[in-house]
Amino acid sequence: MHMIHDEVVPVLDFGSQTAQLICRRVRDSGVYSVLVRADIAPEELRAMNPKGIILSGGPSSVTDEGAPTMHPDILKLGIPVLGICYGMQLSCKLLGASVHKAHHREFGRAMLTIDNPAEGFFNAVPESTQVWMSHGDQIENLGQAHLESVASTESCPYAAVHSTDPDLTFLGVQFHPEVTHTLHGPDLIRNFLYEICKCKGLWKMSDFADEQARVIKERVGNKRVICGLSGGVDSSVVAALLHKAIGDQLTCVFVDNGLLRKKERDLVEHTFRDHFHIDLRVVDASKAFLDDLKDITDPQEKRRRIGHRFIDVFKEAAEDIDDAEFLAQGTLYPDVIESGHGHSGNSANIKLHHNVGGLPEELGFELVEPVRELFKDEVRALGTVLGVPDSIVWRHPFPGPGLAVRVLGDITEDKLEILRDADEILLEEIVAAGLYRKTSQVFAVLLPIQSVGVMGDGRTYERVVALRAVETQDFMTADWARIPYDVLARISTRIINEVRGINRVVYDISSKPPATIEWE
Ligand code: XMP
Repeated sequence: MHMIHDEVVPVLDFGSQTAQLICRRVRDSGVYSVLVRADIAPEELRAMNPKGIILSGGPSSVTDEGAPTMHPDILKLGIPVLGICYGMQLSCKLLGASVHKAHHREFGRAMLTIDNPAEGFFNAVPESTQVWMSHGDQIENLGQAHLESVASTESCPYAAVHSTDPDLTFLGVQFHPEVTHTLHGPDLIRNFLYEICKCKGLWKMSDFADEQARVIKERVGNKRVICGLSGGVDSSVVAALLHKAIGDQLTCVFVDNGLLRKKERDLVEHTFRDHFHIDLRVVDASKAFLDDLKDITDPQEKRRRIGHRFIDVFKEAAEDIDDAEFLAQGTLYPDVIESGHGHSGNSANIKLHHNVGGLPEELGFELVEPVRELFKDEVRALGTVLGVPDSIVWRHPFPGPGLAVRVLGDITEDKLEILRDADEILLEEIVAAGLYRKTSQVFAVLLPIQSVGVMGDGRTYERVVALRAVETQDFMTADWARIPYDVLARISTRIINEVRGINRVVYDISSKPPATIEWE
């Protein structure tokens, strides 16, 4: 059996927001890729036995003092190198070209004209093609460097260069082949991997599962690992992976906080206890959570109380588990990058995410975060490989504070029950209409108002439910989903007929920004 590292193309991280996306595109093309620090030593890189090396972009300017650099010998390892944006400028500079600060940044679409096939790099790419630019600096002249331009755009004569030195296979692109706006980006990455690095395409998600399981087993030895299960995709996939790695050395803890959706606890119990035969401890702490929330209306205060109570409950549950030294968490790459904790520490801090460092260090565990390098859809693919059922793998995200932030205003058991029933109908109808996988998140919100209605011969004065359905790639921005009217009509009729206490249903047509996905 081959190991995934038999064929790896590492990406040196100069701090670009898209550095991990490059890895991901490489993996999508059938070759394993990981992000490594830009200051990695050439020997360490060589020890990985890479088929090729990619240098990411980055927010710095190569002309600035103290800008991130790499060891120049990395260009002399006899391994093909692809430099992207900053990675290109830095390599060209190290090879003797000069880079200058452009008067204005070039940002957005540009038409690339290809002048030279560059060892197959442009195979299957039309002579003129759209690319995505995002840079301030650019190459000014190639000086004495053994480099030549192979493609240009109107404002950038060196939009792609290659090395003319027979001992150095180097390609540099000023644009970003990893982003979807570069129409032939996937072709360029494939051409680099297959035409230039001569990869065979050995990477499969099942290899990742095997390799990670081996790494986890080696690290954990015969100690016990605790995994906090939320019922969401990430923690579920991590639990399945750990189960594969260490079998019954894994104990999962699921906290029922009384703020779950209908049948959520059953699904988790059924999947992990009955299907995977994992040692699952379900802690029913709903009373404590609901007591904490009594009369609380402020959303942040709700979150704060839920967060504190969760830590206490989890801590107590963990104390009952003997020999536990490790805590497994489903931290994903987007969580890491959004928190500015990227590999190089160079990327700008965009948003402090709720998941990173979810449980405090004082719990005293070592963290196991086996999907830290993956994107959400890769985690889903991993889950499928590990036999996690579709009902979990394809689940929409659900916030940690649960229904507490969907019952607007103060929370009571009655309101939670009404919301659960409405939410269940909404999801049933979305699934029945074949819209569940086409939408990113769908849920109901119980509004803190009552409205007048008429049912039969009588006047009613009951609650209002808002339906929220969004489409999004990354949950940082989102658009409201265009759910067909007849589906909305069915949902509304069913909710009003079947859920006692609701006489009006409204549909939320706000995008994010300026609204958020949740209402609280
Ligand atoms: P917003 O409402 O900020 O939501 O547009 C973006 C995504 O994050 C989820 N969300 C949360 N997740 N704890 C969580 O674990 C929270 O406090 C929280 N608030 C929002 C939301 O469901 C959406 O997927």
